[in-house]
Amino acid sequence: MDRGKIIYKESCITCHMGKGEGVPGAFPPLAKADYLIKMPEKAIHAVKYGLNGKITVNGVEYNTMMPNPGLSNDEIADVINYIQNSWGNSNKKIVTRKNGRGY
Ligand code: HEC
Repeated sequence: MDRGKIIYKESCITCHMGKGEGVPGAFPPLAKADYLIKMPEKAIHAVKYGLNGKITVNGVEYNTMMPNPGLSNDEIADVINYIQNSWGNSNKKIVTRKNGRGY
């Protein structure tokens, strides 16, 4: 969580904001975001490769672009664990870099 928090501040906060609330219409929220909670594989994919194209988060459509943050697999695992357990989000299942699902 501590490592993830630092990575979040360095690489994510400018768009997804201090409480994961995002910016309506431009940057989707991470706090209580159905996309992140229901489709963790897709969320992890977005953090590994960036994301481009139409997505719906909490009923709001976004069709913008998230650049590839350029993180290592360890950093991705740390930041995913952080965002999945902050701002009211909670996921008991820890994400590791080797969960063998080809992210
Ligand atoms: C330059 C702005 C920017 C930065 C920096 C950024 N994102 Fe994003 N992020 C976006 C945008 C824009 C989308 C939606 C893209 C689309 O519409 O296809 C998105 C989508 C997402 C999603 C999937 C949608 C959701 O709300 O659950 C996740 C998860 C996510 N970002 C996590 C992160 C994490 C973690 C970081 C830091 C490592 C990060 N982002 C850095 C702009 C950014």
